[in-house]
Parts: sequence; C-alpha cells; structure tokens
Amino acid sequence: MATLLELTSQGDVGTMSDESKLANFKLMDPQQLYELWERQPWSAHAIDLEGDKREWETSVTELEKEQLAYNLSAFFIGEERVATQFSGLVRSYESQGEEAFLTTQQVDEVRHAQFFNRFYAEVLQRDGSFEERLVQAREDVNEAFIQLFDVELVNAQENLLQNPGDIEAKVDFVVMYHMVIEGTLALTGQHFMQEFLESKGFMKGLLEGYQRISQDEHRHVAYGTWFLKEKAGQDPAFKRRISTKLMELMPLAQGVLVPPGVDDPYDYELLGYHSSETNQFAFNALSRRLKVIGVPLGDAADVAA
Ligand SMILES: [Fe+2]
Ligand SMILES: [Fe+2]
Repeated sequence: MATLLELTSQGDVGTMSDESKLANFKLMDPQQLYELWERQPWSAHAIDLEGDKREWETSVTELEKEQLAYNLSAFFIGEERVATQFSGLVRSYESQGEEAFLTTQQVDEVRHAQFFNRFYAEVLQRDGSFEERLVQAREDVNEAFIQLFDVELVNAQENLLQNPGDIEAKVDFVVMYHMVIEGTLALTGQHFMQEFLESKGFMKGLLEGYQRISQDEHRHVAYGTWFLKEKAGQDPAFKRRISTKLMELMPLAQGVLVPPGVDDPYDYELLGYHSSETNQFAFNALSRRLKVIGVPLGDAADVAA
C-alpha cells in the first residue's frame, strides 16, 4: 500500500512503447486551448441546486457529510487561492495565444470559486459573506494544505510578479500550479468525488459542477504540460529544474491527500475508497504527463536523491 511519495520515489513502471508513444504525443498549443475554451462555456449560477438542498437534508448521512467536508472545503478554498494567485503568470505571457489562454484560465478559476461559494451558501446554508464562508471552510483542511496554498503558492506568484520575464520562476510556478495542484491533487479529488456522487445518484447539481470544473481543469493542465514540454525541449537545465521542483513538492502533495483526523495516514478509507486507490490514481495522472513532457519520474527521483 504505497503512498504517493513512495510511488514517486520508486520511479515509473511503464513500458518503453508507452514511453515513446507519450513522448511523441501531440499537444494543443495555447491558441488552440483558447479556442477550445470558447467552445466549452458554462455558468456557475445557472446550475440548479434546489434538489441538492433537499437531498443534503434527507439523503446524505452524517458520516458522509463529515467525509465530504474535506473535499468540498479543499476545493472551495483552493479555487479562491488559485484564482487570486494567478496574475503573475498572466503577466509572464510570451505570445498572444498564451496571453489569451491564461486570461481564460483566471476567469475559469474565479467561476469555480463562485460555484463553491453558491454551494456553501445555498445547500450547506452557511450564512454570512463569501469571505466568512471561506474562513469557516478553513476548519476542514490540514496543515499541508495551508502550507501549499497560503505559503508556497503565494511565494511562487510573488517571484513571478517581481520579474514576469524570469523563465525559471515561471517554470517553478507551472510545476507547482499545473502539475501538482491541478494535475495531481485537483483531478484526483474531482475523479473520486464524481464517482461517489454518480454511485449514490444524489446531488446532481454538485455533480454537474464537478464535471464542468473538471473539463476546465483538463484544459488548464494541458496548457501546463505544453509549457513544460516546450521548455524541457529547449534546455536540459529546465528538465533538471522541473524534476527538482517536483520532488521538493511531493511530501507536501502527499500530506494534502490525507484528510484531517485519520488514524493511520498510510491506511484509511474515505467515501468507500481506500487510500491506496487515491495514491495510485494521483501517481498515474502525474507520471503520464511527465512522460509527455520528457521528464520521467525515475529521473525526477534520481535528481532529488
Ligand atoms: Fe479551478
Ligand atoms: Fe484550474
């Protein structure tokens, strides 16, 4: 029952043919991702939450509510953080297509935070302001989460704001934001939440929100993969930088995956899923993208050793 950190340190177990297929994978560029964004519009305020409000009272058990709290609050706070800590990356654009795509990503993150704020106000019936609901949601997350979103992410953006032309700072930011926060943590949390809601057949509004957000996140992660592949292909020093940054962040990412209050962080179950399933899903998501970028996890582990 390996953790994400152990799986990452062991490196990757894929076959050679997998690797060459993934290394030659054709990625969409930022202009194409911008055009895809135009074809995938949605509104956080148009999703019907009336049924969810009823079912939260009548169909969701107290244990399920307790277990859902970490995922919901992590997304609510996380979306607010990634929306407000993004301007530095927008300023670092290197082409018109990239500028266009990055501005859409910032709007997407705001829309995601708006959706969760609506869910907390209308379904969980949390009174007060958006800001007060965020403060209250912070009671549900752990220390690793706070360290990643309030310290590491804030510092990474500060570095970019001070010098938007600093490509090393931009690489560090994209590794943290697009590979770790979105590509490893968010897509994993969304996957298991969607599976849980589909299996239960309740809270269709919340499910629709997660599905729409997940579609947006796949576009965002596609941009991050494109950007890092471009830089890794230009200079081996960037490859080493990507590996080093990634290994530096893995212990923190591992900590974020463990919900607060579990007895054994290596062996627990949440909403019917064992921690080994969550870790394996997160690891597979990350390792597949790293192969596309051209920085396999084995190399990442070697660099960090
Ligand atoms: Fe988001
Ligand atoms: Fe995102």
